[in-house]
Amino acid sequence: MGDDRSDLERMLDDLFPYRRTSATFTRIPNEGVSRETVLADMQMMATAEDAQGDAGRVSGSLYSGDHDHYAFLADVFGEFAHANVLQRDMYPSATKFEGEIVAMVADMLHAPAATGVVTSGGSDSLIHALYSYREEARETRGVSTPNVVLPNTAHVALRKGAHWMGIEVRDVPVTDAFVADVEGIAAAMDDNTIAIVGSAGDYAHGLIDPIPELGVLAQERGIGLHVDGCLGGFLLPWVEELGYDVPPWDFRVDGVTSISADTHKYGYALKGTSTLVYRDAPLRARQWYSVTDWPGGLYLSPGLAGSRSGGLIASTWAAMISTGRQGYLDKARALLATNDTIKAGIRDRIPELQIIGDPLFMTSFMSAPRSGLAASTVDQMDAGVDVYLVNDALKKAGWRMNSLQLPPALHFCVTGPNTQPGVAESFVDDLRAAVDYAIEHRGQPAESGAMYGFGATPQGQQTLTAAMNGVLEAMHATAPEA
Ligand SMILES: Cc1ncc(COP(=O)(O)O)c(C=O)c1O
Repeated sequence: MGDDRSDLERMLDDLFPYRRTSATFTRIPNEGVSRETVLADMQMMATAEDAQGDAGRVSGSLYSGDHDHYAFLADVFGEFAHANVLQRDMYPSATKFEGEIVAMVADMLHAPAATGVVTSGGSDSLIHALYSYREEARETRGVSTPNVVLPNTAHVALRKGAHWMGIEVRDVPVTDAFVADVEGIAAAMDDNTIAIVGSAGDYAHGLIDPIPELGVLAQERGIGLHVDGCLGGFLLPWVEELGYDVPPWDFRVDGVTSISADTHKYGYALKGTSTLVYRDAPLRARQWYSVTDWPGGLYLSPGLAGSRSGGLIASTWAAMISTGRQGYLDKARALLATNDTIKAGIRDRIPELQIIGDPLFMTSFMSAPRSGLAASTVDQMDAGVDVYLVNDALKKAGWRMNSLQLPPALHFCVTGPNTQPGVAESFVDDLRAAVDYAIEHRGQPAESGAMYGFGATPQGQQTLTAAMNGVLEAMHATAPEA
């Protein structure tokens, strides 16, 4: 690819790399494309897109990485891909799978009597929980101007849900240890607070908030406490069983009223499922919706979705029972050993960086702060290493990190492919070199930024903005003839 591409072309190639190698469809083709051609195209894309992850050079996102496991799940998915969970009479298997998924998760989280739902992902679980708390507060306490109080590290989907549902978000800065500030949360609460939230662990740093203290607070004020275990929920139970020191965070903590735990992360299921478990059935029932006077019939729905794929529920169930407790334990052992190697490598060899807290399954690091200043307030850019320059160098070396902000930091969330021999060691080597690069280029603008979900690709901000501004149109206009 020559350097004479225009900015627009470069951006389009970044967003749509297949526009030069694969046909672009802007209307349904008159004659159907042969299955062989479709499959060949798909396989070409999948192979290209899996390469970096399979090599163990991607943070988060993949979780299992075992292609035999994926193939098995795809077989299971295929059996029920066409099934609509809504048609319970036709597909009683879905009732079995969903019920057993929830039962197994409730058991894993130490509340075997808890109830719950399978949702489409972590954000979906969090937003459903918020809705239930809003409804509970409205009906039992007459709250009409609801607010939810969060540590500012709580996942952004909560802010999105609150925005959609007219709930005020009171986000409270975390402590210098980057976990929820319980006193700050207490101070932000009032009679209109519908719930408080803690994470186990949080997306940015993988840290576990002081859930027992939050539980006491929630009980004192008579409101719910949701624990966001979307990321850690399917890992921490096994980590604890392995003997690691895991602070209390699940239903054994008094005051915890609901927990989200994502099957499509460390549950090793296909993408598109999560669980939301409520300690008590009445709270779960808040998210049910019914209508009796609609021409389409009596309507009763357990959540936002209408039709749902039987394939996803079946394959999630299959992922859990085929992995088994032993499988989860073995994977957890390998994940934590890998993360321990990364943490030790940074501590021993890269004094310019500081690990944020002492996370179990991911390593989040920022520029080491100037002594005497609180870690959370130090001006990173002036103080030391620009971690976005570090990310530029890591990217050139073939790594895909997650970039953070406030303060600027990167995290490496360890997943299955990262546990391959030598990956952690070579990451530490490349990180050492990347820090040297950042020091050499100090003061120069970094290409990376802190863009959630974009892996901080060069031009990430620009790319996203362009995508939102209708770059699809531009792609169509510039697509080469198929
Ligand atoms: C702690 C936490 N909560 C919620 C989410 C949102 O999950 P999803 O991307 O499945 O919507 C994530 C995603 O990484 C997360 O780490």
